Amino acid sequence: MGEKTGNYVAGIHNADYEGEYQKILLDHNCLINISGRETESLNGKWHFCVDPYDTCRRARWFREVRRNDTGAEHPVDWDFDWWERTPVPGTWNVQKRELFWYEGSGIYMRTFRYVPKQMEERAFLYFEGAAYEASVFLNGVFIGTHDGGSTPFTVEISDTVQTDRENRLIVVADARRSPLRVPMDNTDWFNYGGLYREVHLVRVPNVYIKDWFVRLVPDGTFSAIRADIAISGAGVGGKTVFAIPELGIEEEITLRQGAGRGVFAVDAKSLSLWEPENPKLYDVSIRLFPEGGGAGADLVRDRAGFREIKTKGQEILLNGKKIFLKGVSVHEDHVLLGKTTTPDIIRGTIRDLKEMNGNYLRLAHYPHDRRFAQIADEEGVLLWEEIPVYWAIAFGNKNTYRDAENQLAELIQRDRNRASVIIWSVGNENADTEERLKFMSSLSKKARELDETRLVSAACLVNHAKLKIEDRLSEFLDVIGVNEYYGWYDPDFDKLSAILSASKPDKPVIVTEFGGGARSGQRGGVYDLFSEDYQKALYIKQVETFKKYPFIAGLSPWILYDFRCPRRFNRHQEGYNRKGLIDADRKTRKLAFFVMQAFYKER
Ligand code: GCU
Repeated sequence: MGEKTGNYVAGIHNADYEGEYQKILLDHNCLINISGRETESLNGKWHFCVDPYDTCRRARWFREVRRNDTGAEHPVDWDFDWWERTPVPGTWNVQKRELFWYEGSGIYMRTFRYVPKQMEERAFLYFEGAAYEASVFLNGVFIGTHDGGSTPFTVEISDTVQTDRENRLIVVADARRSPLRVPMDNTDWFNYGGLYREVHLVRVPNVYIKDWFVRLVPDGTFSAIRADIAISGAGVGGKTVFAIPELGIEEEITLRQGAGRGVFAVDAKSLSLWEPENPKLYDVSIRLFPEGGGAGADLVRDRAGFREIKTKGQEILLNGKKIFLKGVSVHEDHVLLGKTTTPDIIRGTIRDLKEMNGNYLRLAHYPHDRRFAQIADEEGVLLWEEIPVYWAIAFGNKNTYRDAENQLAELIQRDRNRASVIIWSVGNENADTEERLKFMSSLSKKARELDETRLVSAACLVNHAKLKIEDRLSEFLDVIGVNEYYGWYDPDFDKLSAILSASKPDKPVIVTEFGGGARSGQRGGVYDLFSEDYQKALYIKQVETFKKYPFIAGLSPWILYDFRCPRRFNRHQEGYNRKGLIDADRKTRKLAFFVMQAFYKER
């Protein structure tokens, strides 16, 4: 197509256009960790229009060309400034009824002004999450595409942003499901679309702190803190001053080729270790002094907790002490907001967990909002975080692996300074094949490469033929997650005891899912499926069984709240998965909630 093509017929017939937008991939090598930085919000009402044929990218509407090569104006079909507005963050599915089931591309557009605040400044757009693929255009220029619907990404705009006029920002969010994506096209949750998390403008000096990772050295002595710092651009030298004033640490870290690290002694007696009962956070600051000086030394200020999580035989040790993970699973699903969440909703979830006497949450099946781990750090909740390598992923496809590994790297780089996060999960319920073993063991190695301090796990399948906990992947895991639905999908409850008795795991096991459905308010006998009484009786049998097996180091029953699910349309569920211990209203507790509350109280 000619450079000047607007949306002529040639444009809308353009078939193999998608490769064009894979040429600039926004991935974990970009600025991901913005914790401890001031940012400016680009949230608000953006113009929006559905784009089921992906014509904005196909015919390059983002160029906004209205005239042909002779200068004559030609008709255009896009109308960005006239389109209705929709809230960002927000999923389009819950904005209006006719968009509830929409899974295609959606075009977002807004304008914004940008004036540098300091002489040498670089500017980035930071997206906390966009489902599933997002292509970003600024002032008519394609500046990058991100794959992955639950992890953050940034795009630098320093060279394309205008300082003398309104900037025009267009984002295409493509929520189509695909067998090659992560997750693939078949899941057990609702496929929300759009710019459903916050969007920020981030300003940094020319040379800036691109990433940093601070943690207790996990050697069991609780006496040293390590800090790794990366600054923008290799070949850049300089120094940083790393400080934790309350621990009397203020040290220089020299940077060479863009990186540096320091290990600093702390007095184990004076260090207040982070734990659920005492979620102590310390002020941490990193100030950068680039080689050759220069205006605007970069500075990040954050709060971090220091703790150690390890396994010993079949036990999980937090700060050297055995801990039982009293948890529950949660989806990022809200009746009114879809996949969008807020600090209030997060705090409400943690309140419900604590009312159940819990100390741990499995954030299923994908990375939740960045604020969840920040708030869990403050509230003293332990977290399992997971990437959506869910069910039958295209394990043999190398691009699918790149996508999965990138999502894992983005999650770890985003949250590895959060003490509440103790487990990285590389997937859920994946059939044991050679391709799957290679794919997921590689992910496990990648997780350990990026973070030597946390446990790696996955929700594995039970070997139903041999009736034992057995999965070749467990060799690459620190903790074995087991999903089992005895008493629900498999009515023969006795199999659970048979499996647990036949299993001799050499590492801790977390029962990452168990449970059954119940319509809140529906009462009946203990054999009436979908009654609260049935669910309660099932939970009692499950927890009574678990008590007999010391290798079970934690539980995250499925699930805290009922959630939308586009395959559950019987009269008891009506488009929801009703295994929640609390109704989707996030208020009505079912009888089984109190079974877990009592069980966790006595643990
Ligand atoms: C599976 C799966 C969940 C699903 C649950 C169920 O174990 O991991 O995502 O919702 O079972 O069937 O309710």
